[in-house]
Amino acid sequence: MRYALVTGGSRGIGRAICQKLYQMGYEVLINYVSNEAAAKETLALIEGHGALMPFDVANPEAVSSAITAWQEAHPDSYIEVLVNNAGIRRDGLLIWMDPQDWHKVLDTNLSGWYNVTRALLQPMLVHRYGRIVNVASLSGIKGLPGQCNYSAAKGGLIAATKALAQEVARKKVTVNAVAPGFIRTEMVEGLDESTLKKDIPAARFGEPEEVAAVVGFLSSAEASYVNGEVISVNGGLYT
Ligand SMILES: NC(=O)c1ccc[n+]([C@@H]2O[C@H](COP(=O)([O-])OP(=O)(O)OC[C@H]3O[C@@H](n4cnc5c(N)ncnc54)[C@H](OP(=O)(O)O)[C@@H]3O)[C@@H](O)[C@H]2O)c1
Repeated sequence: MRYALVTGGSRGIGRAICQKLYQMGYEVLINYVSNEAAAKETLALIEGHGALMPFDVANPEAVSSAITAWQEAHPDSYIEVLVNNAGIRRDGLLIWMDPQDWHKVLDTNLSGWYNVTRALLQPMLVHRYGRIVNVASLSGIKGLPGQCNYSAAKGGLIAATKALAQEVARKKVTVNAVAPGFIRTEMVEGLDESTLKKDIPAARFGEPEEVAAVVGFLSSAEASYVNGEVISVNGGLYT
């Protein structure tokens, strides 16, 4: 069996990515932090071809113990696809941004990447095959007002993507990112789509499946010569 891990796989974009990887033949490990019911729904959608793997990506000990336990239970396998998708936003103008909102977003969206990627990288290098796909954001490319914390985390994620790609390319491991624009999930609930879509050339928000399609390509064997790349999925909003 071939294994993939999707952080934040319980809902939204992560759920659609789990479904895509299942369609590609993977057993999908569905990570989440608290919403077990949603994670179980995702597992049902992939017809039980996977397992739940709860942990807080921002907690290095929790990440390490979950992955070590899985590896000990599966000594002859390794996780060959990692999609770093877990993320949160805590928006606010910098002048009013609490330290907690700065640190929580950086800890989850950027340090979470470090914690999970580092835990899974060695087996990919040893087996000389791996795919790492990081879910960044338009905010990390363009910067968005009210999102200094989120833009910094996603911009850092993009830079880390490019750096790690160069470290591991020789071992046939690729590291790429997608940068979604506005995608219809719980994360954008409360945003005024009718106003925002006036600035989007496609004149609508995107669907999680439209992000998952690109992640699926970057996770595939066919994408072997794409490395350190960031692909925007934003309806033409920013290029
Ligand atoms: N939606 C957009 O417009 C958009 C645009 C650009 C980028 N993105 C990025 O796309 C990714 C997915 O976003 P989404 O819109 O699908 O968000 P969402 O619907 O809010 O789902 C967030 C997912 O991340 C998980 N999560 C949050 N904190 C976590 C933690 N500390 N440890 C482990 N898992 C955690 C959640 O788990 P629980 O279910 O347990 O809470 C959930 O599965 C994020 O990285 C986000 O920044 C989204």
